[in-house]
Amino acid sequence: MKLYNIFFSPTGGTQKVADALCAGFALPVDTIDLCNRELTFSNYAFTPQDICVFSVPSFGGRVPAPAAHRMAAMQGGGALAVLVAVYGNRAIDDTLIEMKDLAEKAGFRCVAAVSAVAEHSIARCYAAGRPDQADTAELTAFGQAIAKKLEADPDTGDLNVPGNRPYRNFGGVGMIPLPGDACTGCGVCTKLCPTGAISAKDPRQVNGALCIRCMRCVAVWPEHDRHADAENVAATEAKLAKLCADRKANELFL
Ligand SMILES: Cc1cc2nc3c(=O)[nH]c(=O)nc-3n(C[C@H](O)[C@H](O)[C@H](O)COP(=O)(O)O)c2cc1C
Repeated sequence: MKLYNIFFSPTGGTQKVADALCAGFALPVDTIDLCNRELTFSNYAFTPQDICVFSVPSFGGRVPAPAAHRMAAMQGGGALAVLVAVYGNRAIDDTLIEMKDLAEKAGFRCVAAVSAVAEHSIARCYAAGRPDQADTAELTAFGQAIAKKLEADPDTGDLNVPGNRPYRNFGGVGMIPLPGDACTGCGVCTKLCPTGAISAKDPRQVNGALCIRCMRCVAVWPEHDRHADAENVAATEAKLAKLCADRKANELFL
């Protein structure tokens, strides 16, 4: 068996979850970065001997559109898929059911799913510091449990995951992060933007139709001076206050 850790992680929280879960399999791991727009995802072809752990953040309770397109382009070839939806302590809504539909359509066999909490990448006061030590240990234990189950019987039947069809409509969030005065035009954000929304000539120019507000440019910029509009962030924090108040639990669906 070969393990693939396949993640879309604009600001790093999803990757932390994916790494902790994959550690539980105690297998050599290959990683595939779904944020890397230079990769040709249709070139990835898997076999029934492969286990693919797909991890994406929940955006508005859905799979982020570029992650969905890149997952759909892969050739599952009967490989086993573990689906991981990572969220900022509000809810995953229809993220896992959308992932399951995408994976099955691409030829994967879905055998397990996880929902896990990581720091909210817009409203960073929610789930701050997660996944923490307790989360990491729990996620690795989830990985061990999935590996054990697959060793005993990889034919798990139809996997049940939470969510509804038709999926929730996500109209997007308004704020486009823009650079402050310290922008030197170094091009790091342009290179690492998962959708190519930031101009190479002038990183101050952002194509609003391509930008998915994933906050990667905020997270990766060396000068740390690219921000989403503070008023907008404060409004989002206020809107989420009740929904994000309690500490949500990670969940395993086997
Ligand atoms: C545009 C956008 C929409 C989001 N929507 C949700 C949501 O519906 N529910 C939720 O709990 N968290 C939501 N979040 C928070 C992310 O799911 C969470 O912070 C995730 O860990 C980000 O992954 P990353 O660190 O790999 O970028 C959203 C974040 C962004 C940027």
